[in-house]
Amino acid sequence: MSKTILCIGAGYVGGPTMAMIARKCPGYRVHVVDIDADRIRAWQSDQLPIYEPGLHEVVKSCLNRNLFFSTDIARGIEEADIIFVSVNTPTKTFGQGAGMAADLQYWEKTARQIKQHSRSDKIVVEKSTLPVRTAEAMERILHSGERTVHFEVLSNPEFLAEGTAIKDLENPDRVLIGGHSTDSGRRAVAELVSIYAHWISRERILTTNVWSSELSKLAANAFLAQRISSINSLSALCERTEADVTEVARAIGMDSRIGPKFLNASVGFGGSCFKKDILNLVYLCRHYGLTEVADYWEQVVRMNEYQEDRFVRQMIASMFNTVAGKRIAVFGFAFKADTGDTRESPAIRVCRSLIEERASLVVTDPEALDNARRDLADCAGKVTFDKDPYRAAEGAHAIAVMTDWSEYKKLDFQKIYDSMSKPAFLFDGRNCLDHQRLFQTGFNVYPIGRKPLSHL
Ligand code: NAD
Ligand code: UGA
Repeated sequence: MSKTILCIGAGYVGGPTMAMIARKCPGYRVHVVDIDADRIRAWQSDQLPIYEPGLHEVVKSCLNRNLFFSTDIARGIEEADIIFVSVNTPTKTFGQGAGMAADLQYWEKTARQIKQHSRSDKIVVEKSTLPVRTAEAMERILHSGERTVHFEVLSNPEFLAEGTAIKDLENPDRVLIGGHSTDSGRRAVAELVSIYAHWISRERILTTNVWSSELSKLAANAFLAQRISSINSLSALCERTEADVTEVARAIGMDSRIGPKFLNASVGFGGSCFKKDILNLVYLCRHYGLTEVADYWEQVVRMNEYQEDRFVRQMIASMFNTVAGKRIAVFGFAFKADTGDTRESPAIRVCRSLIEERASLVVTDPEALDNARRDLADCAGKVTFDKDPYRAAEGAHAIAVMTDWSEYKKLDFQKIYDSMSKPAFLFDGRNCLDHQRLFQTGFNVYPIGRKPLSHL
C-alpha cells in the first residue's frame, strides 16, 4: 500500500466517492469514518445506507480489501496522508444568517479534530460544498497554536447527481481541483490529480485557484437550478396561452448555445443541495454588499416555491375548489427517480399544503417510504403509506405524480382508473406519463405547462 486516504463523512457523497477511488486505485488504502455508527454498520452490510444504482457492486468489489468503514475518527486521522472532508453543510436554522447561510458547525468540528489528532503533514481536501474562502478559515484553524505539522488545504467539490452517482463518478464531465500557487500547494494538487488520473483523462481534470474552485461549485448548482426555474416560469405562461412547454423546451434546446438538458418543466426542483447552495450564494453576495446580485439568484428559489404552490392551487381549482375529505394518491415522494432521498422534495411542500386543505393522503414510492414517513411524522391520521401504487389509488379522487419513477409509466392505468372515485383526476407534476392515453382511459389530466385534457 502506498498511501492512506481518509474521508470524514460517510454520506451520499463520501461513501460512493471513496468506494470509486478504492476500486480504481488498488494501491491506496481508503478509510471512511463517520460519527453515525448505524450508518457505518450499514456500509459494512448488504443493506447499504443509501440507494444508488450500481453502488453495491462497487462497494462489494473493494470492501475490506482496500476500502474500510469505521467510527474511529482519531485513528483514521493519525494514519492518513490525505483527508477528504465530506460532512454535511446544511442551511443554518438558527441565529445570524438563519435560513440562508451554510451551517459550518460540522465542518469546523472536523477541522479541529484533524488538528488535534495529526502527528504528520497532511493534505486536507474540501469535498463538501462550502462558501467561498472557507479554505482560509480551515487553514487558520489547522495552523493555529503550535505549528509542528503542515496542512495543505485543497478544494475538490463533487458534481455527482443522486441516482446517477456511479455513472457520474466513473465518467465525470470534469474533476475540479483548487490549490494554492505555492510549492507545497502545487505538489498537493499534483498528488490529487494523480489519484483521479487512474481513470479520468488529464484534459478533464481541471486545476484552478482555491477560491475559483469553491465558487464554481455554488455557481454550477445555481446555473442548473436557474434553468429549471426558467422553464418552470414559462410553464405558467404556456398554461395561459396554449403554448406547450415541452415543445418550447425542444425548440430552444436545439439551439446549441442553449443545449437540451435541464429543461424539463416540473412541479419544482428538490434535493439537498440546489436550494441550500443558492441561498448560501445569496447570503455571500449580501455579505459583500452585492444586493442586486443576491436578489437575482434568490429569485431562482422563489420561482421554485411559486411552482410548487401553483401545482397545489391547480389541483384545488380543478377539483371544484375543494379537496377537503378527498383521498389523494401521491405517486412518488423521492425528489427524483432512482433515489430514496427525499430531502427538499417538492412532495413535502405539496403534501403539507394538501393536508392543510384537509385532504386525506396516501403516499406510494418504490424506495422512499421510510424517509417519507419521517418527513410527515407530525401528520399522523392525515396520511398513510403504501408501497403498492394500485392499492394507493383505490378509491382515490386524484393522483398527484411527484416523482418520475420509470415504474409508473408501466402501470395498468385502466385498472387504476376503474378502482378510483369518479370523476378521476391525474396531476402529472413531472410530465412523465402518456397524457393522451390517460385521457382516453377516462382521466381528467393536468400536465405542467400544457393544456389540460378534461372531460368535464
Ligand atoms: P450526508 O448528510 O449524506 O452525509 C454527511 C455525513 O457526515 C453524515 O453521515 C454525518 O453523520 C457525517 N458527519 C457530520 N459531522 C461529522 C463529524 N464531525 N465527524 C464525522 N462524520 C461527521 O451529506 P451528503 O449528501 O453526503 O453531502 C455532503 C456534502 O457534499 C455537502 O456539503 C453537500 O452539499 C455536498 N454534495 C452533496 C451531493 C449530493 O448529491 N448529496 C452532491 C455534491 C455535493
Ligand atoms: C444536483 C446536481 O445535478 C449535481 O451536479 C450536484 O453535484 C448536486 O446537485 C449537489 O450538489 O448535491 P441532484 O440534486 O442529485 O444533483 O439531482 P438533479 O438531477 O440535479 O435534480 C435536482 C432536481 O431538479 C430534482 O428534483 C429533479 O427532478 C429536478 N429537475 C431536474 C427538474 O425539475 N427538471 C430538469 O430538467 C432536471
